[in-house]
Amino acid sequence: MKKIICLGIESSCDETAAAVVDSDKNILSHVIYSQAPEHREWGGVVPELAARAHILAIDLVAAQALRDAGMDARDIDIIAATAGPGLIGGVIVGWEFAAGLAMSANKPLIAVNHLEGHALVPRLRCESDSGGDAAAVDFPYLLLLASGGHTQTLIARGVGRYELLGQTLDDSAGEAFDKVAKMLGLGYPGGPAVEREAAHGNPKAFRFPRPLCGQDNLDFSFSGIKTAVRMTLGKTPDAVAADICASFQQAVIDAIIDRLGRAIARAVGIKTLVAAGGVAANRAIRGAISSLAAENGMRFAAPPIKLCADNGAMIAWAGIENYLAGNTAAARPTAPRPRWPLEELAS
Ligand code: KG4
Ligand code: ZN
Repeated sequence: MKKIICLGIESSCDETAAAVVDSDKNILSHVIYSQAPEHREWGGVVPELAARAHILAIDLVAAQALRDAGMDARDIDIIAATAGPGLIGGVIVGWEFAAGLAMSANKPLIAVNHLEGHALVPRLRCESDSGGDAAAVDFPYLLLLASGGHTQTLIARGVGRYELLGQTLDDSAGEAFDKVAKMLGLGYPGGPAVEREAAHGNPKAFRFPRPLCGQDNLDFSFSGIKTAVRMTLGKTPDAVAADICASFQQAVIDAIIDRLGRAIARAVGIKTLVAAGGVAANRAIRGAISSLAAENGMRFAAPPIKLCADNGAMIAWAGIENYLAGNTAAARPTAPRPRWPLEELAS
């Protein structure tokens, strides 16, 4: 089959990112401009600031991705961009930029669902338990997708074919990490900061709740853990941050493992368990899920850490998989969407 080269563009949150990836799974360039410093003083992403920062960065980031790959727009076969879900101002910036480039270079344009980017990137690259490259992930797989905007379990049966099992009733796991980091003054983004603190804290120092654990459903809930942290800090303001973080992280892990265990029982015949999304970058969470997979006789796979958080390579790869499946923007016209559930792709 002819090799397809794709420029992928991502702008749904606070990273302006672009990458060139080919259908032989080579990542030819990978550029991420993080806006974190611009949002840090507000303790979280400010949508208007994000949209403006994307406008200022998008052409530079895309040009850099082409340059790093040693190409110009003529050498690219297809262009893929996030069309949602996400902060709509940023999504519009990336999508319209990609649409303009596709029109001027006369290339097919692929509208990528950001969540599908996270869901498919383990098929581009995944890591073995020892950290090295592992064999590619084949369909079907049970997917835990845990990011700043979403926490859900799905069965991935094919490109565009996702069956939702359960999702959070309130905060996402990433949001809980970000809010706890904010309470402790650890800065933004919170996940990596909390993980760093937790590494030298006592996970048994505080007993935070494990929401929904033991209940016979596949939902998630994280806001109660976050609220318990807030109350503990109110009562014991001089609590050691590392102990709070370690105890909080342990509560999140226990909740995820209980919920995921139930999803495994429901996903009869599925032999691979995949974790993806920004929260899957957390080593302690990866380790716990890997053990759960082993206990259930399943293979565990997760993208390398640098492909867990938002990036252009995951969008380029999802673009390639969709292009090969016939899902071009011409076949499936789309406007930028703030909400776009994965399971809607099947229809
Ligand atoms: O997938 P992502 O980059 O963006 C969204 O699509 O939302 O996920 C970002 C989320 C943030 O909430 C961030 O705090 C969290 O992923 N995150 C982590 C870690 N790295 C990023 N959470 C826990 N531990 C980490 N190491
Ligand atoms: Zn994301």
